[in-house]
Amino acid sequence: MPTEFISLTFPNASTELNPLPNPAIDPDYLTRYARNLDDYEYNYTLVPYDSSYFDPFTTGATIAAVTKNLKIIIALRPNTLYPTVAAKALATLDQLSRGRAVVHFIAGGSDVEQAREGDFLGKEERYARLEEYIKILKRAWESPEPFDWDGKYYQFKQFRNLVRPVNGTSIPVSVGGSSAEAYRIGGSLADIFGLWGEPLKETKEQIDRIYAEAEKAGRTDRPRIWVTFRPIVAETEELAWAKAHRTLDALKGNRADGKARVPAEAPPPQNVGSQRLLEIAKKGEVQDRALWYPTVTATNARGASTALVGSFQTIIDSLLDYVDLGAELISIRGYDNLNDAIDYGRYVLPRVREELKKRENGANGTH
Ligand SMILES: Cc1cc2nc3c(=O)[nH]c(=O)nc-3n(C[C@H](O)[C@H](O)[C@H](O)COP(=O)(O)O)c2cc1C
Repeated sequence: MPTEFISLTFPNASTELNPLPNPAIDPDYLTRYARNLDDYEYNYTLVPYDSSYFDPFTTGATIAAVTKNLKIIIALRPNTLYPTVAAKALATLDQLSRGRAVVHFIAGGSDVEQAREGDFLGKEERYARLEEYIKILKRAWESPEPFDWDGKYYQFKQFRNLVRPVNGTSIPVSVGGSSAEAYRIGGSLADIFGLWGEPLKETKEQIDRIYAEAEKAGRTDRPRIWVTFRPIVAETEELAWAKAHRTLDALKGNRADGKARVPAEAPPPQNVGSQRLLEIAKKGEVQDRALWYPTVTATNARGASTALVGSFQTIIDSLLDYVDLGAELISIRGYDNLNDAIDYGRYVLPRVREELKKRENGANGTH
């Protein structure tokens, strides 16, 4: 499989650098952003989920209607939608988009955030429920035969799904997280496993654990690995570092002014992925070739927050390091959302692909 690129969906012009107060969806912006991703040949856009945030399904369907090739990754927390409803909603989007729907499952990383929408299960149980949920969706997608379910979290009788995925079997299933439960559920059931950007050594450790879980589950294949970065890029190293420090100042200033999504006095995060980022941040500001951690500490590691700083060539080389490690899906999004997506589309994506093509041709030549 070729290396693929992912971006994140932004429904309006608000950014972490310039947060707009209570911004609504701006349909023109959403269309422009999505079409740029499509035109610059990103493969996917993730439509994120948050208890306070926009509905990913209607947002995803809107993106599908204005793009041709871009695949739409719907972030989904099992507590928010009954599994039979989710199976049909995802298959509906798959049919509307002619086979471009993907689902990214989130067990839920924070008790406080889960409680906001009535979910009071502990973390371990949330993962156990996720396991059952994925099995139900796969069963519902596989065949139109009615079936009963008598599980721990869900029970139903004679559910029949006539809304099937375009490929007739399944929609790609992704799982994200960095806890032992995430590795187990994702390793055994996911087509794609999502990680946040960590140094090469730590990323390799995570990949090995995911692959070990896949093997333990008796799989003959294994999940494709997705890693996420926030590149801060410019023509020269010097310009990129100046931009990185401007970015950091804005993140810190906005948080101190109460304009960031994370309050100034936020408690330590409960999800292991964020805890790992904060722990690794203690080892140094710059790790490996260009992985930069001050953006992690400035935001309390809320979401994907590890930057890559440097010239276009440095970013390209850094991403290739992760491809060499086994990452097949690379998620990149900046801080100046639309402009950064265009910059990557013009100067990063084509050059990473060119390099990989060159290597492929070279490798073929030796056979
Ligand atoms: C690539 C990726 C994307 C994610 N997207 C979301 C999201 O949209 N919404 C959300 O609440 N959590 C999101 N998460 C967070 C985790 O899925 C979440 O914290 C997890 O349920 C528990 O994490 P843990 O296993 O590391 O403790 C994402 C994680 C990764 C790796």
